[in-house]
Amino acid sequence: MKRIAVLASGKGSNLEAIFQAAERGELEGRVVLVISDRQEAGALERARQRGVKALYIDPRPFAGRVEYDRAIMKELEKEAVDLVVLAGFMRLLSKEFVDAYPHRIMNIHPALLPSFPGTEGVKDALEYGVKVTGCTVHFVDEGMDTGPIILQGAVEIKDDDTVETLHQRIQEVEHRLYPRAINLFCQNKIKVEGRRCFILE
Ligand code: GAR
Repeated sequence: MKRIAVLASGKGSNLEAIFQAAERGELEGRVVLVISDRQEAGALERARQRGVKALYIDPRPFAGRVEYDRAIMKELEKEAVDLVVLAGFMRLLSKEFVDAYPHRIMNIHPALLPSFPGTEGVKDALEYGVKVTGCTVHFVDEGMDTGPIILQGAVEIKDDDTVETLHQRIQEVEHRLYPRAINLFCQNKIKVEGRRCFILE
């Protein structure tokens, strides 16, 4: 069983989907640690309810991103984590962190990358006027949402969509896609060649 850490800043619906996939026996991995940069993150509560170690690490006392990331890395090392899963973690990781976990950090983004990277992926796609958007699971590199793409799912945009209604439909796809991508990693079924990920079935 691979040991998984989830980093989350928000309500934690993706974390919930990962827990539920594990409970259905669809994940050959175990979430052993959840870390948040926000004390009130729903993700921490969801972890505690399941008896999973949940840590709030306040970024404010740290001099900068590198120092903060080192504090997170120390906790990951203590738990001998194989895979780091970013689930709505709204911070860019330092080079040191990314280099320590090559092709072992995943992120989910609410748009079809490389379109609409950044923190407003849903709003940016809606305002641009594209007819199809979706979500992307990718490995994390030093850039903003630029790493090799593992899986993508498409969502059609309706004329009467708001950011909220669109995000809700994207999240439904996220909740299926993310556990699947994580399980592929756990089964050693993702081969990375340069920018391309191949799924070995
Ligand atoms: C997800 O929709 C994820 O795609 C997005 O944050 C949400 C977290 O939801 N991530 C980003 O925008 C990253 N740039 P959750 O807390 O309910 O899992």
